[in-house]
Amino acid sequence: MRNDDMTITPLSDVLGAEITGVTITAGMADALFAAIEEALHRHLVVIIRGQDLAPSDFIALAERFGRPEPHVIDQFHHPADPNILILSNRKDEAGRPMGLADGGSYFHTDYSYLAVPARCTLLYGIELPDDNAGTTFADQRAAYAALDDATKERIAPLVCRHHYGNRDNLDLGSRTVASPLTADQQAKMDWERHPLVRTHPHTGRKSLYAVSGSSFGIDGMADDEALALLDELKEHSTGSRFCHQPTYKKGDVVIWDNCSLLHCAPLVDPAVPRTLWRITVKESGPTL
Ligand SMILES: [Fe+2]
Repeated sequence: MRNDDMTITPLSDVLGAEITGVTITAGMADALFAAIEEALHRHLVVIIRGQDLAPSDFIALAERFGRPEPHVIDQFHHPADPNILILSNRKDEAGRPMGLADGGSYFHTDYSYLAVPARCTLLYGIELPDDNAGTTFADQRAAYAALDDATKERIAPLVCRHHYGNRDNLDLGSRTVASPLTADQQAKMDWERHPLVRTHPHTGRKSLYAVSGSSFGIDGMADDEALALLDELKEHSTGSRFCHQPTYKKGDVVIWDNCSLLHCAPLVDPAVPRTLWRITVKESGPTL
């Protein structure tokens, strides 16, 4: 990887930065990876523009952050490597989907339904419309910091119960439901627990964690009270002052921090082809 001309430019006042002037290859200098990792921790989303990656290059980049884990939806794993999930609205000649369409089009964070959640997710743009609107990200670090002291004190000891799904939409025919699983895939899903307030394993900074999406309850709290609190926190933490929706193009690599963000994929026009590769990298251990 060459990094002589690397430039890191913030994308908004809220979050996100673009990185230009680097060419990713399978052999990456430690200094360049450190610069990308530092930018990720600072800006929470980084977009490395204009890359030309084989599946093995993309995997090599992801593995610098940790251990990738294949998505439970195994019918859309890339034939070259199951760690790559194909996101696409394209269909083959028989009308069968060629990738996962409409995945995660509600605020959530990746793998929060697993005991060891995701450190970061990487997307690589294969085919995107010129006016592509990307994922909307919500900064849960800033949302936590903006809470009043009484709320911070109230939520500090709370532990949430998580399961695969979108608690706000369980209608399997909807485009904003969590992508439906087969019976075999559902059987792999269990209830997991995570703190409502996470301390980032690399930066030590606190954030609200997964208050939307997979959180269905709070230990020791009646469900109606728990859901009211989670809904209140979701309303607060996905407000426009904490959000940014970057655009990305074919060849861009997008990396985001799942501990510190919620994100919501765009609902795109089914008639406009859109294909990305995705790798999700795990944290090093459970959150409790
Ligand atoms: Fe996601």
